[in-house]
Amino acid sequence: MTLVAIISGTGLTEYPGLQISEEKWLETPLGQTSAPLVFGKLNGCDVVFLARHGHPHKVPPHRINYRANIWALKEVGVSHVIAINAVGGIGAEMDAEVLAAPQQIIDYTHGREATFFDGIFMPLDHIDFSYPYDEKLRQHIIRAAQSSGISIVPHGVYGATQGPRLESIAEIKRMAQDGCDLVGMTGMPEAALARELALPYACLSLVVNKAAGCSDGIITMDEIRAALNNGMDKVRRVVAATLPLVR
Ligand code: HPA
Repeated sequence: MTLVAIISGTGLTEYPGLQISEEKWLETPLGQTSAPLVFGKLNGCDVVFLARHGHPHKVPPHRINYRANIWALKEVGVSHVIAINAVGGIGAEMDAEVLAAPQQIIDYTHGREATFFDGIFMPLDHIDFSYPYDEKLRQHIIRAAQSSGISIVPHGVYGATQGPRLESIAEIKRMAQDGCDLVGMTGMPEAALARELALPYACLSLVVNKAAGCSDGIITMDEIRAALNNGMDKVRRVVAATLPLVR
């Protein structure tokens, strides 16, 4: 059975159009999820909705219980995960309000519980992570955007930083040299944990600011809020159009 989870980030704690059938807090062996799992139908498809930062928005990126969130989704029978992330844009094409479906990840986070296979909770194991996102699901997202007339950058490298502070200009320069096109705080370890539990996972990123040093001046919360307001409707439309393609 197809049951798509939508893990939503900043700016998307509520989902108009979602017909809710049930809300359930799940206690997992790894603790509590960020928010209750919200079950329902979106565009005629079964979905589970999880607000990554809690609801109302309060859990900072480094304190999200990513393991509990992914474990809970697996436990309720989720078949695919669409992760929505607000990000900073590093690459030239990654301006505010641009949507992107990244292909690769570089992980700069530290101190997060980043694996189920830690030799304590589960025996040590090593997953392949050559292609961190599920290519089929990624292509569905790209096709859904295109068929909805919404432009999307169909590639990109997502650099996951620790936060909650934004980066220095030198840090972003280094990330650009590493090949990062996008910078966000919540892409990892979420993607790796999904892979560990064999959950096809792909990311739909919304650029909400140019990363540090990539534009004139500093980054303001006002510009981020404006891009979230203007861009989230496109995100919702792409997600809704993606759902019927997933099976
Ligand atoms: N850096 C890191 N995370 C972010 C940014 C950024 O500039 N914008 C939104 N999330």
